[in-house]
Amino acid sequence: MDQIADGGAVEVRVPGPPVRFVALLRRGDQVLAFANACPHAGRPMNVAPDKFLFSPEGELVCAVHGATFRLPDGECVAGPCVGARLEVFPVEVEDGQVFAGQG
Ligand code: FES
Repeated sequence: MDQIADGGAVEVRVPGPPVRFVALLRRGDQVLAFANACPHAGRPMNVAPDKFLFSPEGELVCAVHGATFRLPDGECVAGPCVGARLEVFPVEVEDGQVFAGQG
């Protein structure tokens, strides 16, 4: 938990097979986990390692073509894939450790 800035996000690599990349977003004591694969074209949404973009309203914005995802459900509300959803993983935080399961 300490490695995720409040209001920010990090990307973690989940060993495979298949190898997966998951975006962990922290909002206070809550952590959200999404597959870091945009439903528009399947590309990673971050602009640089652990650097994700957010709208002024706090929505997650894909750096590739600007799809905008509402939190916490990950539904695209603006951009090229309106109505599509990010793959969401359930998260538990226990003693400062973040555990994300299968969606
Ligand atoms: S790949 Fe994300 S908006 Fe196109």
